[in-house]
Amino acid sequence: MHPDMTHKSPNQPIGIFDSGIGGLTVANAIHHALPNEHLIYFGDTVHLPYGDKSADAIRYYSLKISKFLLEQNCKMIIIACNSASSAAYDMLLDFFEGKVLFVNVVDPLVNAVISNNYQNVGVIATKATINSSIYRNKIKSLNQKVKVNQLATPLLAPMIEEGFYSGSISKSIISNYLSHPDLHDIDALLLACTHYPLIKAEIDEFYNGKVAIMDSTDVVTNVVIQILTEEKLLSPKRSHEDQFYVSDYTKSFEETARNFYGENIKLEAQQIWT
Ligand code: DGL
Repeated sequence: MHPDMTHKSPNQPIGIFDSGIGGLTVANAIHHALPNEHLIYFGDTVHLPYGDKSADAIRYYSLKISKFLLEQNCKMIIIACNSASSAAYDMLLDFFEGKVLFVNVVDPLVNAVISNNYQNVGVIATKATINSSIYRNKIKSLNQKVKVNQLATPLLAPMIEEGFYSGSISKSIISNYLSHPDLHDIDALLLACTHYPLIKAEIDEFYNGKVAIMDSTDVVTNVVIQILTEEKLLSPKRSHEDQFYVSDYTKSFEETARNFYGENIKLEAQQIWT
């Protein structure tokens, strides 16, 4: 057990944050795998997209959101955003040392590449994630032989956020990006942005099922289960309805969020920036 986690109790909530709806892909997977957990989601729609922001700005947003989630008494905070995981995970670990458990979305996917023994891996993500080279560096540090080809695909997150997926616009943008020479001959493609599971089927169609398409939802859920089990912090029964906060409420966010989460979710505007 983590030395400072002894004061946490199983019925405390799990905090999850992202720049917008993307992290709902992770929240949804966790909700289904761990239905007894009380989830508190925060989508920072004021600052979306994070992928175009500087690392310093993303660190500042992540710090403030984590403070909010800690005030809600969370036992664990899941950084359900690759851009924030790349820029802010180490800083958050240092800043909140021992106060809360943190899970990022990068390490579980990196470990899945290594355990599946992929040799020629493509990574698509926001500019912030690609510029950090976090996937390349982490994969190479575990296996120098794996070829890692990265491509920033900055149009995809705003496209999905606006509800443009499973249609002609998304098909054309996806095929334009994936035809890039850097992504030829890959055996696996990492969807290194938590928005991208919404277009996973379209990406799979582009490759005719010949490339393994990996996203972080299941692998992150497995890590969460493992950590909560080890820390004896799994909630034995449901104590509270899940809560979904956004820093700026828009109708389109709510519609996309509801469609995606698969059930009605009530969004509440939460001003943490004033
Ligand atoms: N979903 C986020 C990620 O995983 C960020 C998308 C964005 O806001 O740019 O990177």
